[in-house]
Amino acid sequence: MIQTRQSPARSQVAIIGAGPAGLTLAHILHHHGIDSVVIERRDRAYVERRLRAGVLEQGTVDLFRALGVSARLDREGLVHHGINLQFSGERHRIALSDLTGGRAITIYGQHEVVKDLIAARLANDGPIWFDADDVSLHDLTSDKPRVHFRRDGRAHELHCDFVAGCDGSHGVSRSAVPTAERRTFERTYPFSWLGILAAVPPSLGEVIYAHHERGFALHSMRGPQVTRLYVQCGPDDGLDSWPDERVWLELKTRLSTTDGWTVQEGAVIEKSITALRSFVMEPMQYGQLFLAGDAAHVVPPTGAKGMNLAVADARVLGDALAQWYRAGDRSLLAEYSSTCLRRVWRAEHFSWFMTSMLHRFPDGDAFQQKLQLSQLRYVCTSTAAATSLAENYVGLEHV
Ligand code: FAD
Ligand code: DHB
Repeated sequence: MIQTRQSPARSQVAIIGAGPAGLTLAHILHHHGIDSVVIERRDRAYVERRLRAGVLEQGTVDLFRALGVSARLDREGLVHHGINLQFSGERHRIALSDLTGGRAITIYGQHEVVKDLIAARLANDGPIWFDADDVSLHDLTSDKPRVHFRRDGRAHELHCDFVAGCDGSHGVSRSAVPTAERRTFERTYPFSWLGILAAVPPSLGEVIYAHHERGFALHSMRGPQVTRLYVQCGPDDGLDSWPDERVWLELKTRLSTTDGWTVQEGAVIEKSITALRSFVMEPMQYGQLFLAGDAAHVVPPTGAKGMNLAVADARVLGDALAQWYRAGDRSLLAEYSSTCLRRVWRAEHFSWFMTSMLHRFPDGDAFQQKLQLSQLRYVCTSTAAATSLAENYVGLEHV
């Protein structure tokens, strides 16, 4: 296991979590000559294998290019100019690039992004402390915050100017903000997603979001030989109730079109279940602690916004810290939360909208289904409605 250097006792910025938010921030800070330490609970192999998102917005790709970490992404990422919405057995293409002045999405696994960011960080001699247990944050309202953690059986203390809480939705940073200082907004959905990775070429060259009376299904991919598929399942379902044959049966039923097209089966390489949830904590700051990514907000995956939001937060925070260290100007830091929350709430709305339009709600009646079908038909036949969906999907430049 590669670990970098001995634990420094001080760093300008302590970053909690080596996910997309924390690693992107570390690169932005390095670019501005600001030192940081990334403290991660898991080991390197674990974070590099954790399968999650797959759709990068144009702005996310552009940032990775500007940071010089996009060589493999540029080689292996699949640039897509459209997505498909399917309902009543018919497929309708939303021409993302035609509708957004040429913007596109890139299909590239989140764990590949994480691998690339870790490799580039270690090549820059930037410290990442994997396997850190019992991380706790102290003196956040002073100008000398501290981070405590245990590693290799020893207690460590890191002194810093700022703490970036990038430790996802189950981390410690969010709970370091006293309840009286934060407001939370939340919605849970009465279903989950069962996702598989299958060793079979994609059955279509683009992503498909399918509305079906048996529930939602999604066709995506990770490369020319690997398909990524999701199927809506019950909120309490376990993997035991989803043997491979049942997964394929549901995928084929929900993704087939009336002209006879269906998905190709292959060996299932990975299978997992994810609950769907919307969550926002405001503000995204407490003293010298700044929260970024899933630590501050969660979106349901319909619409593919979570990782892109994490990267967008890291960009805003990196630029704000750079202004502070360069000019002693705190104005961008003071605006950090409100700047991020504008994009966050747009993505919260879009993800809720896509989720509501595409899933079968257990308590939903025929009226709700008719509304969903009407909305789908509208989005697929009105250029105005399709443009709205497309610009949200590829990512808004200015929010
Ligand atoms: P994470 O990726 O969760 O990283 C947090 C890191 O902090 C982890 O490495 C964790 O181990 C570490 N950590 C946690 N607790 C501690 C602690 N106490 N101390 C130290 N370290 C800690 N988003 C998209 O943009 N596009 C998609 O297509 C998409 N599809 C998705 C599909 C699925 C099935 C799922 C589950 C999610 C999807 N998402 C998608 C969402 C996306 O994966 C998340 O929003 C993204 O991982 C958030 O990044 P993050 O860096 O904020 O948090
Ligand atoms: C993928 C995930 C999503 O949440 C989505 O909306 C589209 C694609 C994927 O994993 O490829």
